[in-house]
Amino acid sequence: MPTFEIGDRDFLLDGRPHQVISGALHYFRVHPDQWADRIRKARLMGLNTIETYVAWNVHAPQRGRFDLDGPRDLGRFLDLVADEGLHAIVRPGPYICAEWDGGGLPGWLLADPDVGVRRHEPRYLSAIEQYYDQLLPLVAERQITRGGTVVAVQVENEYGAYGDDPEYLRALVAMVRDRGIEVPLLTCDQADDAMQERGGLPELHRTVTFGARAAERLELLRRHQPRGPLMCMEFWNGWFDSWGQHHHVAPAETNARDLDDLLAMGASVNVYMFHGGTNFGFTNGANDKGTYAPITTSYDYDAPLAEHGAPTAKYHAMREVIARYAPVPDEVPADPPPAPEAAVGLDRRVPFAAAADLLGVAKGWDHLPTTDELEHWSGFTLYRTRVTAEDRVITFGEVRDRAVVALDGDPVGVLSRAEGTRTLALPARAGELTVLLEDQGRVNYGPRIGEPKGLVGGARTAVREVTAWETVALRLDAVDGALADLLAAAPATPVDEPVAGPAFVAGTFATAAGADHFLRLDGWSKGLVWVNGFLLGRYWSAGPTRTLYVPGPLLRAEGNEIVLLELHAAAGARVAFVAGPDLGPSAP
Ligand code: GLA
Repeated sequence: MPTFEIGDRDFLLDGRPHQVISGALHYFRVHPDQWADRIRKARLMGLNTIETYVAWNVHAPQRGRFDLDGPRDLGRFLDLVADEGLHAIVRPGPYICAEWDGGGLPGWLLADPDVGVRRHEPRYLSAIEQYYDQLLPLVAERQITRGGTVVAVQVENEYGAYGDDPEYLRALVAMVRDRGIEVPLLTCDQADDAMQERGGLPELHRTVTFGARAAERLELLRRHQPRGPLMCMEFWNGWFDSWGQHHHVAPAETNARDLDDLLAMGASVNVYMFHGGTNFGFTNGANDKGTYAPITTSYDYDAPLAEHGAPTAKYHAMREVIARYAPVPDEVPADPPPAPEAAVGLDRRVPFAAAADLLGVAKGWDHLPTTDELEHWSGFTLYRTRVTAEDRVITFGEVRDRAVVALDGDPVGVLSRAEGTRTLALPARAGELTVLLEDQGRVNYGPRIGEPKGLVGGARTAVREVTAWETVALRLDAVDGALADLLAAAPATPVDEPVAGPAFVAGTFATAAGADHFLRLDGWSKGLVWVNGFLLGRYWSAGPTRTLYVPGPLLRAEGNEIVLLELHAAAGARVAFVAGPDLGPSAP
């Protein structure tokens, strides 16, 4: 059987020094019909390894459920990596950061405040055991030592940036080893002495994460990892985007030079990201370093392979650099053709209020519940209560993360965590107050991991505490069933008529089956978009993203259905498909 080991200075593949030239590709951010294409393009850039995180909450969206099918079929993904003759590095967390909802930690696990977060705590550890029980067999059987493709597994992620509990790390190591993982175990931490110290264990192999100044960072790593190969586990060649900020780009020439420096030193590397992909649905995470900043739907990352699988200037620059150190195939992937262009009028509408009760079960409360109390772990929740003319204002302890407030259907205003607003003036009349609450993504980094979501800390008016609430946990992960029927039966509305939200707006179009599309939503405000029932994700005029990527496998020739949930307003009901992506303005 082949071997992959840690030698005195190098990784050893079958006993011979081996430089890992890896790229990050998250299977859960790419349509499964496109996995093979993206992996092939990784090989053509000269990579010899694919690295993927495993997001726990992708596989375990609810307590007691574990799913490895279709888009969650990690075994199939790893087999495709093997088919291309590449190795794999698997990073199954349990925490992964990755700008992913909650850093991959399931909401249902941390809703109980007694469950420890990223520390040696029995309930937390026992949940991880169950996760590993279900996940690790498929990784174990694909290890290189058993004729497979997996050469290394990472434990936790940048733990030194969060905690200081070696017992926790030791417990994870024991759990992973107990489940048959025999390849080298790695940790990664930022280029910081204290983080390197806290994040690793002597019995694990340390790696480092950085985007530049390779020599200095590898020297720092060497102080903490005296023996064995040096590896940059995340060579940041771009960066993620947050709503309301600029689009991040990093120059290809600078990335290529830094990669050259790193490879010239004989270090191993995992380019983060090789291909970023998309935060489909409600999967994006958020940062909160004082201000809450949710991550955009696109996770293009300015990576060498763009969100839609096109090789970029960075791809070609990195390929050239890699060719100086390793064999690179002659074949170069072609640029994709321009995407089909079309204007589509959305000619059917249903007010959100008419659909709300089809999307979940109404439940009464004698206090203001968090969405965790509803066991609703992501997306939108409707809260309802009665107010009187004396109430005058409504104020919440905290809004996590954004709420559209209306009185008897008339817009009252928006409350936003990012903007620090939690109080609104109310019209001086009695009526039904509705709060359409959006969880914009669980924080994925730092001390706020695991915090409760929804409306938190009670509600008051000028004259009283508001305790009588009704909630509907809205099922919006697909347009199907009763909602699809309602939209199909909606009467035709002229597309030039302004849209007053919240409302579902739908239309049908024909196009080239299987072709990638880019959906431009100029003039729309904020909401969700589905194509053929699949929730692409959130759109928002706050930008920077101007187009949403629609993967080709979602589209057929005839009868494609596009549905928007517009929370606010649009001047008319048209959308456009354009030839290529526009991820917005980058910083000057
Ligand atoms: C860190 C984490 C990654 C990711 C990057 C930023 O290195 O380990 O998961 O969050 O930052 O993209």
